Amino acid sequence: MKLAHLILLLLDLHLSSSGHTPASGLPQEDLVEQKCLLQKYTHLSCDKVFCQPWQKCIDGTCVCKLPYQCPKNGTPVCATDGRNYPTYCHQKSFECLHPEIKFSNNGTCTDQGKFNVSLIYGSTDTEGIVQVKLVDQNEKMFICKNSWSVAEANVACFDLGFPLGVRDTQARFNIPVNLHINTTECLHVRCRGIETTLAECTFTRRRTKTPHGLAGVVCYTQDADFPTSQSFQCVNGKRIPQEKACNGINDCGDQSDELCCTGCRGKAFICKSGVCIPNQYRCNGEVDCITGEDESNCKEDRQHNIHEGVARPDQGGETEMETEETEMLTPGMDTERKRIKSLLPKLSCGVKRNTHTRRKRVVGGQPAEVGDYPWQVAIKDGQRITCGGIYIGGCWILTAAHCVRRSKLHHYQIWTALLDWLKPNSELAIQAVNRIIIHENYNGATYQNDIALIEMKKRPGKKECELSRSVPACVPWSPYLFQPNDTCIISGWGREKDNQRVYSLRWGEVNLIGNCSQFYPGRYYEKEMQCAGTSDGSIDACKGDSGGPLVCNDINNVTYIWGIVSWGENCGKPEFPGVYTRVANYFDWISYHVGRSLVSQHNV
Ligand SMILES: *[C@@H]1O[C@H](CO)[C@@H](O)[C@H](O)[C@H]1NC(C)=O
Ligand SMILES: *[C@@H]1O[C@H](CO)[C@@H](O)[C@H](O)[C@H]1NC(C)=O
Ligand SMILES: *[C@@H]1O[C@H](CO)[C@@H](O)[C@H](O)[C@H]1NC(C)=O
Ligand SMILES: *[C@@H]1O[C@H](CO)[C@@H](O)[C@H](O)[C@H]1NC(C)=O
Ligand SMILES: *[C@@H]1O[C@H](CO)[C@@H](O)[C@H](O)[C@H]1NC(C)=O
Ligand SMILES: *[C@@H]1O[C@H](CO)[C@@H](O)[C@H](O)[C@H]1NC(C)=O
Repeated sequence: MKLAHLILLLLDLHLSSSGHTPASGLPQEDLVEQKCLLQKYTHLSCDKVFCQPWQKCIDGTCVCKLPYQCPKNGTPVCATDGRNYPTYCHQKSFECLHPEIKFSNNGTCTDQGKFNVSLIYGSTDTEGIVQVKLVDQNEKMFICKNSWSVAEANVACFDLGFPLGVRDTQARFNIPVNLHINTTECLHVRCRGIETTLAECTFTRRRTKTPHGLAGVVCYTQDADFPTSQSFQCVNGKRIPQEKACNGINDCGDQSDELCCTGCRGKAFICKSGVCIPNQYRCNGEVDCITGEDESNCKEDRQHNIHEGVARPDQGGETEMETEETEMLTPGMDTERKRIKSLLPKLSCGVKRNTHTRRKRVVGGQPAEVGDYPWQVAIKDGQRITCGGIYIGGCWILTAAHCVRRSKLHHYQIWTALLDWLKPNSELAIQAVNRIIIHENYNGATYQNDIALIEMKKRPGKKECELSRSVPACVPWSPYLFQPNDTCIISGWGREKDNQRVYSLRWGEVNLIGNCSQFYPGRYYEKEMQCAGTSDGSIDACKGDSGGPLVCNDINNVTYIWGIVSWGENCGKPEFPGVYTRVANYFDWISYHVGRSLVSQHNV
C-alpha cells in the first residue's frame, strides 16, 4: 500500500495550448477548440452550462424534472392546451416532457384569445415579416426591426415549428404599396433565446414620429445551403458562418457554437469553462458561467443591468433616440425563471465556518490549524494513520481505492478534526466504518479508477452522522470547473522527503498540470487522472497522504474536492509530479452511491 506521496518540485511549466488565450488578433478558427467539439456539447450539457430550473442534471445532460419537483411558490400560467398550471415551472416542466404544449400567458386562461405568431409577405412559409397577436390584444402587430436579434428570431422560428431556428434576421420583404401600414407603432421584443415561444418574451409597445423598419425572418430548414468548408457545423445539424462561432450569440439555437471556445469574438465574455456569453450577461445578477466569474468583481453601479426592458446595445440596429412613448405589454417570464431558480434547494458545502484565519503565502510544510481543512479526515488502520480521506457530507468519506480493503472494514477508524496524531486535540472525533465501496473498475496495477467511498457508522439511536467540526467539500460535477495552472491545495500527514514521519496535518499549494503524459508516457489517463505540482520555481514542498484531498477554491472561495492523492513516482523530483484521481470524472458514480441530493449543487 502506498503510504505517502511527497512531492518537492522545481518545475518550469510551459503549459500547452489548453490555457485561455485572449481573443484579440487571433485567426478566427483558433477560437474554437476542436477536441471539445467532439463532445457535442449543447445547451443541455451540464458540464458546460447550468440546467433550467425545470430540468436536472443526470450523467452530464439536462433532463426534464417532473412537475411535482417544482417549487410550489408562484402564480398560475396558461398553456396552449388551454389548461392552467400552478406555476411557470410546472408548465415548463410539463412542456419539457410534452414539447407541443407551450406557454401561452401569465395568469389563468381566458377566452380573450390566443397568442399567435405568423409570417407574412414572404415567398415561402419559411420566411416573411413577423406578425404577432398578443393574448389580450385584438389586432396583429409588427415587431420593430431594431429590437430584433438572433435570440428573438430563433425563438420566433422555434415557435413556428422550425427547430433549428433562424437562418437570416436581415432579410427584406416588400410590403405591397397599396397596403398602408402605419409603421410608427411597433412592438419591441426581448427574449433570452432559450424560450420555445415568443409568448415567453417581454413585449413593449413603441410609438415614434418616424416609421420603423419591421422585423423579418428566414427560418432555417435543412436544405439551406451554406458552403460547407466555410461553415461551422452545429450539433443540431445547422450550419452557420464560421465567424459566428464563439461570438457570445447563440446562432445555432442549441448553443453549440458557444461552448468550445478558447476566446470570444467581439464583445462577448469568456467563461473559464470555455463558454462565450453575451457581454450584457456580465454582472446582471444571474450566474451564467458554471465557474461564476461573470458575477464577480461587479461594481455596484453595474448591477442595474438586472432590470428588464433596458435597451440593449444593439447589434447594428437603429438608435433608440427617437422613441417617444413606450408601454410594457407583457413583462416576459425571464424574471420568473430567475425567481424559480432562487427557490431551488441549495447545498451547503465547501465553506469553512471560520474564515478569519490568516495564512502566510509560504507553502509547503505549513502546519494546519483547527478549522483550516474541515473536510480532511484520517483513516486509521490499527495503530497507524495509513491514509487521508475527504468528508463529502452525510456519513460519507471519499478516499483512494488503494487505501482500503473491504476485508479490513472493522479495523478502520475515521478520525475527523485531527491535527496531530501524537497529541490528539480536543476536537478530534472517532467514527467506526459501516461500509466500503471500491470502484468496480479499480485497477491496482495502473491505478485507474483509484477511488473509494467509506460510509461511517451512525451512533446508536442517531439518524445522521454528527460531525460538528467537519464541513463537507463540494463534489465537482463538471470537468471544466478548474483548469491547468489553477492553484489548489493538498493536505495530509504524508512523510517528509527523507521519509521522516509527520505527525501533524500539513498543507501546501500546487498547480494543476495540463498534459501529464509527457511525464508518465503510457501511464497517465487524462480523463481519470489529474497531475499537480509546483510551477514557480521556488522550493515548494507539497505533500499529502494517499487518499487525501487536492482541493481547489472557486471564485467565491467555495472548496471543491478536485483530486484524491493517488500515485506519483520518485517523490521530490520535478519531472515526476503527483497524480490524483480526477474526482469530477466520478461525479455520477459518487452520486449513485451516496444519493444525488447529498452532492448535487444545482437542480436536484
Ligand atoms: C500560470 O500562472 C502563472 C501565475 O500564477 C502565470 O505567470 C503563467 O503565465 C501561467 N501559465 C499559463 C500557461 O497560463
Ligand atoms: C395564427 O395566425 C395565422 C394567420 O392568421 C393562422 O393561419 C394560424 O392558424 C394561427 N395559428 C394559431 C395557432 O392560431
Ligand atoms: C399612426 O398611428 C399613430 C397612433 O397609433 C397615429 O398617432 C398616427 O397619426 C398614425 N399615422 C398615420 C400616418 O396614420
Ligand atoms: C404574473 O401574474 C401575477 C398575477 O396574476 C403577478 O403577480 C406576477 O408578477 C406575474 N408574473 C410575471 C412574470 O409577469
Ligand atoms: C501531451 O503530451 C504528449 C507527450 O508529450 C503529446 O504527444 C500530446 O500531443 C500532448 N497533448 C496535448 C493535448 O497537448
Ligand atoms: C477569497 O479568499 C481570499 C483570500 O482568503 C480573499 O482575498 C478574497 O476576497 C475572497 N473572495 C471572496 C469572493 O470571498
